[in-house]
Amino acid sequence: MIFEIRESVIKCTKCDLCKTRTNAVPGKGDQNAKVIFIGEAPGRTEDMKGEPFVGSAGKKLSDALSKAGISRESVYITNVVKCRPPNNRVPNEIERAACRAYLDAEISTIKPKIVCILGNTASNSILGQGEITKNHGKIIEKEGIRYFLTFHPAAIIYNQELARTFEEDIISLGKML
Ligand code: URA
Ligand code: SF4
Repeated sequence: MIFEIRESVIKCTKCDLCKTRTNAVPGKGDQNAKVIFIGEAPGRTEDMKGEPFVGSAGKKLSDALSKAGISRESVYITNVVKCRPPNNRVPNEIERAACRAYLDAEISTIKPKIVCILGNTASNSILGQGEITKNHGKIIEKEGIRYFLTFHPAAIIYNQELARTFEEDIISLGKML
């Protein structure tokens, strides 16, 4: 159950990120979602609020979802690691491995049609490869799960062209659901 995963994440001390977090940030959304979005790690705003993608990157994600006619409440949004790394550094291998079971549990509980990978950290962690620039907009199947790759919404904030491409990706993702 998503509720149980959430409760475990909130009190988790499996890696050192628990020492510097304000709040752990469990995934959020519909437990019957057709799509799960996976980012990198909570940022400052997320750490303050205990919710994923509620800062400026989250605004970009919300805008793209609404342009694609997808309501934010109908999807499920989570991260590779559930606690904010100090100064927003990329989470390391130890932290990713420690947090991995929560991500796997989220996916196997929700059983979405598609898992949408946001950016290179999630792509490297889950598929063992980055190259979002080359593979964005594509589906990659691994161990019976269909992954759709696109950019991290933080990467598009100061890049109009990438922002358009990101929105087009989310629109094409919407058509697959
Ligand atoms: N960036 C992420 O990768 N995840 C969040 O939750 C917020 C910003
Ligand atoms: Fe636990 Fe994940 Fe937070 Fe580490 S990042 S303390 S494994 S919830």
